[in-house]
Amino acid sequence: MRQDILDYLLEHKGEFVSGQKISDMFGISRTAVWKHIRVLKQRGYVIESFTKKGYCLKEAPELLHPDAVTQGLPTKVIGQNLVYYEKTDSTNSLAKKLANEGAEEGTVVVAEEQSGGRGRLNRSFLSPFAQGLWFSLILRPPFLPMEVSKMTLLAAVAITHALRQQGLECGIKWPNDILVHDKKIVGILTELNASMEKINYLIMGIGINTGITKKMLPRDLKKTVTSFAMENIPVNRTKLLRDVFCDLERYYFEAEKEGFSPILEEWKKLSCMLGKEVEVVMPDRTFSGVAFDLDDSGNLLVRTDSGVERVLAGDVRV
Ligand code: BTN
Repeated sequence: MRQDILDYLLEHKGEFVSGQKISDMFGISRTAVWKHIRVLKQRGYVIESFTKKGYCLKEAPELLHPDAVTQGLPTKVIGQNLVYYEKTDSTNSLAKKLANEGAEEGTVVVAEEQSGGRGRLNRSFLSPFAQGLWFSLILRPPFLPMEVSKMTLLAAVAITHALRQQGLECGIKWPNDILVHDKKIVGILTELNASMEKINYLIMGIGINTGITKKMLPRDLKKTVTSFAMENIPVNRTKLLRDVFCDLERYYFEAEKEGFSPILEEWKKLSCMLGKEVEVVMPDRTFSGVAFDLDDSGNLLVRTDSGVERVLAGDVRV
């Protein structure tokens, strides 16, 4: 029903159509029409409404069309099998299910909206309709399970590269948040299914804020989160998604061939926190110091008053 109303508004984009007419056409009450319009507005459709004139669709969000994403995509594996949803709870959860059912390496699950987007450290991740790229990649890398943390650094390097190509001045905060002017624009959640000696699969969940505006953010995120829209950088979501697939694949194949050393070096160059005073919050304690390097395993090295700390996990605040 909502799709029918939307199609009708799209056909009459820029014109006012009366609520009564829509209600007669689709045999629903005017309150029901109003409720559908309210959901469309929440999804980023700009619809003006005036009491006597009705509704006028001014702007529609750019949706992802799976064919447009995959057609002529110059990758070998990443994104060649694309599973698209308008809405799901979490693309990571769905990707995990598909991976358990044997989905091939490089399969990507992408959704316009997540109702239960998940972040690191059990946090939730805001993923409103068509206001970002919310997707999860299934990989079956030939690495040892202990190398998985370096895969997340690899993802951060690849995505930072793709974002900089769009003119966005961004850098990486350990391990894999991507920041613009100290505010987060990308989050990455890597989940692993492995035995002691072999990775069965790895889910790399990536959220890139494109259209999110300050108004959409809850109060506690207003100071710490940003998006392409908030940075005034225009972006085509389809192109960005394709570019990210290409960069991820390039670095992934490079790691397979040459190991992770060149990627760790690149990570250091793209980092926005090395050389800065940081606060490290671990489950059992908090300390401060200067983040100055990565070790060969991708752990963060922090110089404190009492020596050098090696950070394997935790929250690092700049
Ligand atoms: C973080 O910053 O803490 C990680 C956020 C990861 C969010 C992405 S959005 C797509 C994928 N699905 C999820 O539920 N989470 C990841």
